Amino acid sequence: MALDASIMAAAYRRFQADRDARQAELDRRNSLVRLRIPRLELIDRELGSTAAKIVIAAFEEDGSPETALRELERKNLELQRERAELLVGAGYPYDYIDGTPPCTLCGDSGYLRDGAPCRCLMTYYAREQNSRLSKLLDLGTQSFATFSFDWYSADVWPEYGRSPLENMKMIREICGNYAHTFGQRSGNLLFTGAPGLGKTFLSACIAREVSELGFSVVYDTASHIFQQFESGKFGRENPYEEAPDREINRYLNCDLLIMDDLGTEMFTKFVKSAFYRIVNDRLMSRRKTVLSTNLPVDELGVQYGEAALSRIRGEYQALHFFGDDIRILKRDR
Ligand SMILES: Nc1ncnc2c1ncn2[C@@H]1O[C@H](COP(=O)(O)OP(=O)(O)OP(=O)(O)O)[C@@H](O)[C@H]1O
Ligand SMILES: [Mg+2]
Ligand SMILES: [Zn+2]
Repeated sequence: MALDASIMAAAYRRFQADRDARQAELDRRNSLVRLRIPRLELIDRELGSTAAKIVIAAFEEDGSPETALRELERKNLELQRERAELLVGAGYPYDYIDGTPPCTLCGDSGYLRDGAPCRCLMTYYAREQNSRLSKLLDLGTQSFATFSFDWYSADVWPEYGRSPLENMKMIREICGNYAHTFGQRSGNLLFTGAPGLGKTFLSACIAREVSELGFSVVYDTASHIFQQFESGKFGRENPYEEAPDREINRYLNCDLLIMDDLGTEMFTKFVKSAFYRIVNDRLMSRRKTVLSTNLPVDELGVQYGEAALSRIRGEYQALHFFGDDIRILKRDR
């Protein structure tokens, strides 16, 4: 998994802030409650010592530790009950000063023994990444759950031999599976078709779900991606190793790149070579890409070269969108 360093840094800051806030709240409660119920201090100290005695008794070799153990456990339960009763009696929930138990996997450190981020930290990562994706995509309203088939006609389009509705049911199914099962073995997708048919909508659905699975996801329009390449030092020997935070590294290194509106940028030799570089680099490093374009597939060869097209034909699953422009349908409804 190729996590984005700046997203992880932001996620970890929030993770720590939440952990510190929980601890501060617990400290506040403790000092307040202990002031009101001084006996708690004594009970806790005794609970701590009986816990230690239980451990010692359990390892006692000579004699039978059972009787001693049972007695200690009874004592322990009694103290716990008294503690709970004192708290409830003073108007607090019985677990008011217990705090939430730390994450069983990482002990609230955020990282596992092997250095990998823990699941609890990864939920912060996904949240941070989704908030960045939301700057360009409508993750708030566009999800598989809100995807509607109402906009697609059930009349068969003769040139395709099926209706837009049937076609979209298939595409929705493929995209759903793609997102749910995203991983090393996933392929790449190519969305083609006229404007206003849900290509960006489905990209948002995929982005959100793959991000929530804990992968790094970058969404951007092709023209913005090419701009970033152009302003970088693309073309030099090893252009991206010097500054790992540079935008173009995010495009090249993320687990899933969603490149939207391909073909709306100015066609130049630079764009052609940058596109080839992105497609080829990502295939070589087995990173996944979802491409969207209004251009027909053959036209991609004309604009970006046969070398790029041949890789797309070989390694991308092409999904063709057709139907009536939903933007216009929505306007007229
Ligand atoms: N299945 C759907 N259910 C509800 N609304 C949809 C659906 N698909 C698309 N829309 C809406 O229709 C409009 C156009 O969709 P979208 O932006 O995904 O089109 P597109 O195929 O990406 O078009 P373009 O090629 O111009 O980029 C958006 O407002 C989107 O929210
Ligand atoms: Mg679009
Ligand atoms: Zn954890």
